[in-house]
Amino acid sequence: MDITNKYRSLTRGDGRVTGGGFPSDVDAGLSKAQKSISSKYLYDAEGDRLFQRIMELPEYYLTRCEYEILRDNRDKILTAVGDGPINLVELGAGDGKKTFLLLEHFLEKGLQFRYVPIDISEDAICGLVENCCDCYPDMAIEGLVAEYFSGIRWLADQNHKRNLVLFLGSNIGNFARADMDLFLRGLWDALNNGDLVLIGFDLKKDIQRIVDAYDDSQGVTAQFNINLLERINRELGGNFNVDQFDHHCTYNDQLGAIESYLVSREKQEVCIDSIGKTFSFEEKEPLHVEYSHKFSRDDIAGMSERTGFKIIEQFYDSESLFVDSLWQVVK
Ligand code: AVJ
Repeated sequence: MDITNKYRSLTRGDGRVTGGGFPSDVDAGLSKAQKSISSKYLYDAEGDRLFQRIMELPEYYLTRCEYEILRDNRDKILTAVGDGPINLVELGAGDGKKTFLLLEHFLEKGLQFRYVPIDISEDAICGLVENCCDCYPDMAIEGLVAEYFSGIRWLADQNHKRNLVLFLGSNIGNFARADMDLFLRGLWDALNNGDLVLIGFDLKKDIQRIVDAYDDSQGVTAQFNINLLERINRELGGNFNVDQFDHHCTYNDQLGAIESYLVSREKQEVCIDSIGKTFSFEEKEPLHVEYSHKFSRDDIAGMSERTGFKIIEQFYDSESLFVDSLWQVVK
């Protein structure tokens, strides 16, 4: 099926997003005293594939919890939405598997909507749009390849449409704490009074349970993070020897976050052709690749209050490990 008229890219050809694009962000990140590269670069085609495997892992409870939540509460969500037509916007849609539960239900109940999945990965958006066209040929869909902030700018231009924005999977946990409020306030700005946002938060819980989810026994998460170095080799002509780096994740109690690092096994130098520079790593030097913040009920209440949303309803899984929180824009 030809899907070329069903999605478009809001990035430039080089995958450029906020920041300077992949090469210049890698350059800046590896030049800092404390090396770090944004987790948004984990998601190339190979990263998408590995993340799909993560979602199937026995230790990675987040996806299963949220699936259960959406399955059991889709009627309540529909009731809160009321009558269409609406834009059903999804930020960081990925493979959209969980969302299909809602799409199917909404279609069955005759809600009029246009599905707008937004993701930074072009492969993810293509796959998702194709899948949707196969499964729901009559559904209106417009995929956007964009990062969150460009997605929000797109939203702001959609005047006078009612919106339900899905921000699932605890994707919000990847922001630094300070950026969460900025992001949510930006989202609030882009939306209309009364619009709804359904946000997934992974809750604070027994620390071992959390650590196990990011340090799985099959080493899939390790591969997922190592793929960032392989991506630099593939796309930027790097010469990372990936066997010389270890995946290390640790729970930072004060941040309330898993922090993921790639740690250099020994002193080494890495050359990246398209940057035209060599970077040195000390023995045991960490490269920060991801935050995965965890949330208390107070964290969630505080964020919604500070950024202009009213909490309408909270949907928990049966073990209360995860929550999908339904917020309404108050202007
Ligand atoms: C997709 C960002 C929510 O932080 O839990 C999973 C990504 N990284 N395992 C998360 C991830 C390592 C995931 N998010």
